[in-house]
Amino acid sequence: MNAVPRDVMPVSGTAGAPSPGDRFWRRLGGVAFGGDYNPEQWPAETRAEDLRLMADARVNLVTVGVFAWARVEPTRGAYDFSFFDQVLDDLHAHGITADLATMTASPPPWLVHEHPEILPVTSDGTVLGPGGRQHFCPSSPVYRERAALLVERLATHYRGHPALGLWHVGNEYGCHIGACYCEVSADDFRRWLRERYAGDIEALNDAWSTDFWSQRYASFDHIRPPRVAPTYPNPAQRLDYMRFSNEALRGCLELEAGILRRITPEVPITTNFLMGLKAVDVFDWAPKVDVVSVDSYPDPHDERPHLLPGLLYDTMRGAGGGAPWILMEQAPSAVNWRARNAIKQPGRMRLWSWQAVAHGADAILYFQWRQSRGGAEKFHSGMVPHAGTDSRVYREIAALGRELARVPDLPGTRVRNQVAILLDWNNWWALELDSHPSDGVRHEERLLDHYAPLFELGVGVDVVPPSADLTGYALVVVPNLYLLSDENARNLSAYVSGGGALVVSFFSGIVDEHDRVHLGGYPAPLREVLGVRVEEFCPAAERETFPVRGCGALADVEGVADLWREDLRLTGAEPELVFESPDWAGRPAVTRHRFGEGVSRYLSTRLDEATMRAVLGRALTEAGVTPVVEGLPSGVQASVRTGAGRRFLILLNHTGDKHDIAVGGEWADALAPSEAVAGIVTLPPWGVAVLRGTESVDQASN
Ligand code: GAL
Ligand code: ZN
Repeated sequence: MNAVPRDVMPVSGTAGAPSPGDRFWRRLGGVAFGGDYNPEQWPAETRAEDLRLMADARVNLVTVGVFAWARVEPTRGAYDFSFFDQVLDDLHAHGITADLATMTASPPPWLVHEHPEILPVTSDGTVLGPGGRQHFCPSSPVYRERAALLVERLATHYRGHPALGLWHVGNEYGCHIGACYCEVSADDFRRWLRERYAGDIEALNDAWSTDFWSQRYASFDHIRPPRVAPTYPNPAQRLDYMRFSNEALRGCLELEAGILRRITPEVPITTNFLMGLKAVDVFDWAPKVDVVSVDSYPDPHDERPHLLPGLLYDTMRGAGGGAPWILMEQAPSAVNWRARNAIKQPGRMRLWSWQAVAHGADAILYFQWRQSRGGAEKFHSGMVPHAGTDSRVYREIAALGRELARVPDLPGTRVRNQVAILLDWNNWWALELDSHPSDGVRHEERLLDHYAPLFELGVGVDVVPPSADLTGYALVVVPNLYLLSDENARNLSAYVSGGGALVVSFFSGIVDEHDRVHLGGYPAPLREVLGVRVEEFCPAAERETFPVRGCGALADVEGVADLWREDLRLTGAEPELVFESPDWAGRPAVTRHRFGEGVSRYLSTRLDEATMRAVLGRALTEAGVTPVVEGLPSGVQASVRTGAGRRFLILLNHTGDKHDIAVGGEWADALAPSEAVAGIVTLPPWGVAVLRGTESVDQASN
C-alpha cells in the first residue's frame, strides 16, 4: 500500500528566476490582509480616513477598480486615469499593494447605448438589460474589442507603478452569465464545433447521437445553441454548450491576460473564482493565471457552514498544484443577496478566515473595505461598516489583521495530504443534465457526502481532477463520477493496480465524454478494477430508506441508506456492507476488491454519514492514513502546514463548546509567543489556535 506522504509540487520558479507569482508572495512578506477597495464611491475625506484605518487594521493588499470602467472611460475613448493615479500613489505611500482590476466586469452605459448587441441573452430568448453588472456576451467582438483597448491603456499607464503588485482580470467570470444564447454566441458555437469536430459533421452526429429524435445535421450552419425546447434538448449538445461557454468566458480572461503579459510581464495575473460555480472549470482555468484566488460566501445559517468552503478551498489548492492562494472575497459579516442574510456571529469571521489559511491560503481579503452607502449592496457588510469603527465588525477585522501579522513566517509552508477526492467539471455538467434515473444525484451534495465524513475523521484531502497523477496518494475517493473517459478510467485502474486504495460511489463510470453510455454492464470502464457489474439502477423514492449492516471487519456497523440502489453482481469483489430490507436482504451495498497491488471499494448506495465514516475509516486504516491529530472531537479541525524547515499546527473549533485538545510534539503558541503549549490546547467555542513547531523538521515532512 502506498502510504508515503505526498509532497506537493515544488514552489514554482525555485530552480531559476522567481516567477511573477513567487515575486508577488515575497513582496507581501507575510499573510496578506485586505479587501475590495472602491474609493470611487467616496469623497476625499473618507479616502483619507481609509488610509489611516488600513494602517490600523494592518491592511497590505487591496483590490482596486473592479467596477470602474465608467469612471475611467466615461465616453468612448475618453480615458482618464487621474482618479486612480491618486489612489495608487496613496496606497503606495502607505505601503499597501494594489491588486489592480482590469475594470472590464461591468460595461459602461455608453457602450450599451452604442452597441446593445453586447447584451447577454438567456436560453429562453430574454435579452438581459444593463443596470446591474456583467451584462455582456462573452463572445461579443464589440465587448472584447473595447475591453482589450481599455486593458492596453491601463497596462501601459500603470506599467512600473510601485503599488501595482497583481492584475485582477475581470471579476467572477460566469457568476451571473454562465452562458449566453444570443446569435453572436450561436455563431461562435458553430465555429467552436467546427474546430472540435475538425469540420466533420458526421463526427458531430456520432458524438451527439443525433439519430435519436431525428436530429441528424447536414451542416454545421444548421446548429443552434440548446435554447428552451418543447422537451429535453439533446444532452450531448448541452454538454458541448457548457464546454463552449466555459471556453468563451476563458477567452475573455486570456485576451486580457495576453495584453497584460505583453506590457507588464513581471506583474502576476489572477482572476477571482467563485466558490461552487458550475460554469467555470477551475482546473481548466488555473493554468492561465499566476495566482489562484477564490471568493467564498458560506451561509452562516447552515448547520456546518465550514464544510463547503473547506471542499472548495481544497479544490483551489489542487487547481494551483499546491501553491498558496488568495481568499479574494468573503463577507466581514452578512451578505445582501440571500433571502435572509445571517450575520457572522462573534468569532466566526476570524474562525473562517483562519480556516482558509489552514487550507493553504496566504492572503485573507474581503468584499469590501467600506460598506457602500448607496447601490444594490449597501446592506452587504464591509470591513468598515455603516456604524463606523466603533463597531463589533471593525474591531474583529482590525484584531484579525494584527493577529495575522504575528505569523509572518507562515507563508512558504504548505498543506500536504495523503487523501484525494476527484472532481471534474465535465462530470458536474453531465451529471446534472435532465432525464436521469434520479434527480437526486446533485454534484455538490454528493461531494459533501464524501467530504463531510473525511473531515470528521480528521483527515485532510486534496481535490484533484481524474486525470491527475494519483500515485502519491494513499487513498483516492471518487464521488459519483458519472462521466468518465476511458483514459481517466485507465488512470484509476493503474493507480489501484500499482498499490493504491480507491473508493468509488454509485453512478460512476457511466458515460463517455459525449454522454454516451459505456456498454456491457455498468460501470463498464471500472468493472474490472472494482470487481462488480451493475445491470440496473434502482433509484429510491423521495423519503425511502434501506437498513444496511456491515460484514467482516465492519460487522458492528448498522446504518441506513437512501437515494439509490442497484442490481449489483459481484465478479470478484466481496461484500463489506449488505442491505437488510426484506426485498433486498443480503444484497451487497458496499464491496471490497483486491486488484493488482491495491484495493478498491464500491458504494452502490448513499449511506448515512456515520456509516460512511465507518466505511471510509476502514479504507483509511487499511491505507495507513492517520488523522492530523488523533481523537479530535466532532467539529474540531486540525491542519498542519510545513515547509522551509517550519511547521505550524492550526486548530479550529467549529463548535459552540469548549474543547481541550491533546497535541503531540513540541509546540509554541504562534499568536501569543510567550505561551509555551504544554501538551493540551484549550479551544474556546468557535476558537482558533495557531501553534508553531519547535522541533527542527525536515523540509518536506508532514
Ligand atoms: C461577489 C462579487 C463582489 C460582491 C460580492 C457580494 O460575487 O465579486 O463584487 O458583489 O459578491 O457578496
Ligand atoms: Zn451571446
